[in-house]
Amino acid sequence: MSSLTILGIESSCDDTAAAVLRGHAGSADVMSSVVMGQTALHANFGGVVPEIAARAHAEKLDLCVVQALDKAGVGLEDIDAVAVTAGPGLIGGVVSGVMCAKGIALARDLPLYGVNHLAGHALTPRLTHGVAFPYLMLLVSGGHCQFLIVSGPDEFKRLGGTIDDAPGEAFDKVARLIALPQPGGPAIEACAFNGDASRFKLPRPLLDRAGCDMSFSGLKTAVLRQRDSLLVEAKLKSQDQADLAAGFQAAVVDVLSEKTRRAMAIYTPLTSTPAICVAGGVASNMAIRSAIQSIAAEFGAAFIAPPLALCTDNAAMIAYAALEQMGTRNPDGMALSARPRWPL
Ligand code: KG4
Ligand code: ZN
Repeated sequence: MSSLTILGIESSCDDTAAAVLRGHAGSADVMSSVVMGQTALHANFGGVVPEIAARAHAEKLDLCVVQALDKAGVGLEDIDAVAVTAGPGLIGGVVSGVMCAKGIALARDLPLYGVNHLAGHALTPRLTHGVAFPYLMLLVSGGHCQFLIVSGPDEFKRLGGTIDDAPGEAFDKVARLIALPQPGGPAIEACAFNGDASRFKLPRPLLDRAGCDMSFSGLKTAVLRQRDSLLVEAKLKSQDQADLAAGFQAAVVDVLSEKTRRAMAIYTPLTSTPAICVAGGVASNMAIRSAIQSIAAEFGAAFIAPPLALCTDNAAMIAYAALEQMGTRNPDGMALSARPRWPL
């Protein structure tokens, strides 16, 4: 199988990213992966502001592509195809990326592939670990939360996901409620270390309902109520913060653990070599990670966690997804359009 060099572009949320990848499906090298974050631009707004994000992508995309080419030591003349996130995501950012990719593809007469951002995340374990199909993917980030059985480059079966907030979103909102800094996930994890998870009774939403769907917004509201009852007496003390953080994290771990067991029960009969892969920023949480790891062991499955830089938003995963999908579909070319909603 001949090696191809792919330029990937990602701009669907608050990271402007470009990457160069060389190889073929099942075996590829990340020659460069540049991610320009926008955290500081959104810091005062309590979340990503779509208009600010879109402008920042439009300003940074060309620089990002040039840096990715430079770091890989290649020029556009060395590129065989262009891959770009065409959705789902914030439409202004996705359009910026698609237009940038179209310009490059048109100028160099290159095939252009529009990639589903979630497919990029879902196929990453093949890039990093060469995991064989089918595998189970738990994608948990600030914007996503779902279980997928990945059976091929374009074959995804969604077993369930959040019906409201993504877990990272809940970590960020709870951090704000208990006066911890953003991003909330790492802050809560660090604070929970000194906390007593059993002090506050917090719910385990949807565990009483069959299936793999999850809910995190009620949990956040329960933390708010507990916080307010403490605030009646005084300012939140650091022990209160730690106990609320620990209680919240333990509830998320319980929900993800039980739903993972259910997903594994559906998935493991499909293969003799089961593997569960995690991706997304929330998967860097050690309490969550070790809970999923022990469930993998319960089911005799491999536990795969790609390095964080490839677990969070990046363009190498987009280039790789295109490399996988090239064997099964034609390029999209100039007809490619941005899709803010695009379920797998
Ligand atoms: O995948 P990611 O970098 O970006 C997208 O959401 O696309 O995920 C970011 C999310 C944030 O909500 C952040 O609070 C959460 O991942 N996160 C964590 C941890 N590190 C990052 N959540 C829990 N524990 C962590 N250690
Ligand atoms: Zn993502």
